[in-house]
Amino acid sequence: MRISIFGVGYVGVVSSGCLVSVGHTVVAVDVAADKVALINQGKSPIVEVEIDELVANGVAEGKLTATTDVDAAIGQTEVSFISVGTPSAPNGSVSMVAVEAVLASIGRALRKKATPHTIVMRSTVPPGTAETLAIPILERESGLRHGQGFTYYSNPEFLREGSSVRDFHAPPFTLIGAPDGDDAQVVREIYASVDAPVHVAPFKVAEAAKYLSNVYHAVKLAFANEAGAILAAHGVDARASFRLFCEDRVLNISPAYLRPGFAFGGSCLPKDIRSFLALADDRDIPAPFLSQVLPSNISIIDRTFAAIAAHGRQQVALFGLAFKSGTDDLRESPFVLLAEKLIGKGFDLKIYDRSVETARLTGANRAYIDREIPHIERFMVGDVAAALEGSPLAVVGHIGAEDRPALLGALGKRTVLDLAGIPDLQKLPLVTYQGLCW
Ligand SMILES: NC(=O)c1ccc[n+]([C@@H]2O[C@H](COP(=O)([O-])OP(=O)(O)OC[C@H]3O[C@@H](n4cnc5c(N)ncnc54)[C@H](O)[C@@H]3O)[C@@H](O)[C@H]2O)c1
Repeated sequence: MRISIFGVGYVGVVSSGCLVSVGHTVVAVDVAADKVALINQGKSPIVEVEIDELVANGVAEGKLTATTDVDAAIGQTEVSFISVGTPSAPNGSVSMVAVEAVLASIGRALRKKATPHTIVMRSTVPPGTAETLAIPILERESGLRHGQGFTYYSNPEFLREGSSVRDFHAPPFTLIGAPDGDDAQVVREIYASVDAPVHVAPFKVAEAAKYLSNVYHAVKLAFANEAGAILAAHGVDARASFRLFCEDRVLNISPAYLRPGFAFGGSCLPKDIRSFLALADDRDIPAPFLSQVLPSNISIIDRTFAAIAAHGRQQVALFGLAFKSGTDDLRESPFVLLAEKLIGKGFDLKIYDRSVETARLTGANRAYIDREIPHIERFMVGDVAAALEGSPLAVVGHIGAEDRPALLGALGKRTVLDLAGIPDLQKLPLVTYQGLCW
């Protein structure tokens, strides 16, 4: 394919060199005339393993050229990649100045082009960019409609500097944000030689996945560095501990606990974080990152309370009281905290949790209930129907398989706040369905 690449920085040069090496023809475009001149001399404007040779070969074979002339580049190619910088603005938000400028220049060039063109965003841009910024700028400047004369895709970049040529050929996946019902065939073809799964997703989901990746990498590093310092201060070989920690591919290095939802709780996580922070305090090791974990968790309970209160002061049916489904363990349950907050603010509440109810009746967890939550017990009811009676708002924290049919069958004509992400709930004829973060 003939591809123009706008922005010849780290991403643009690597993409240019690698795309040429797999058989495409590339026109590199930059506003910096010195970078353009360097490429045309067969030299890479960035330092990166293997890239000098790829650029030199591409230019020698006549498959890689560079220019500052946008019209010429658009005229000679059928696809344009955008890989201009998106640095931080002074207030921490992302500066879209270069992205907006390049989109506008491509749009204007499209006015002079008779054949369809594909635009692919490789820069890291905030979710919503495709629909609220990129496509509108392209439509305004080109006078064309999206899908009629040009098509826009987002295709976030996952290369790491230092190993980016290797990463180009073996990425974790190829991620394409595309319009509804479009399987992004043009973009797939560009990567035909790359052996990696291709995921096509709605624009915002794809754009967000790139942010999630980098934020998560930073979170992993902050966790490892801070925890390592705390352990080392107690004479532990932190790297040896982390090696073992990473051996657990079931709970640690895995998708476990990476599904956004309601606050965590239970008898282990809050207690052990507090205990780990006490180890940090004991040796005066600052732990600004880890010390925010429990406040972050509490803020989710507060946010959930605010979402309930936004529906007005009415009777609420709360499903789930133990910290998770299928246990009667009420220790540090976030649902108990939520219930306490609702009761404290004067909400009428009906709570149903089969496991807690069983424990309450059989006496298994009776002592805990009497000692710790006697103020909540009087709001507990014995079945789904009793919880829903008189409750226009249902908050579904968790619900066991045995009670699910009864709940789904009786929820109709209510407003539901779903804290668990139960797919069947979204299909019901509810007054309002509200997911916590979906
Ligand atoms: N560097 C990485 O490892 C990496 C990895 C993945 C994603 N990203 C993302 O890719 C994007 C590019 O990053 P980078 O590190 O390559 O940036 P960079 O700053 O190295 O390069 C950006 C290039 O864009 C050029 N440019 C600016 N305005 C232009 C315009 N209107 N027309 C043409 N060219 C223009 C600049 O002159 C510069 O050469 C960013 O959004 C970044 O977040 C970077």
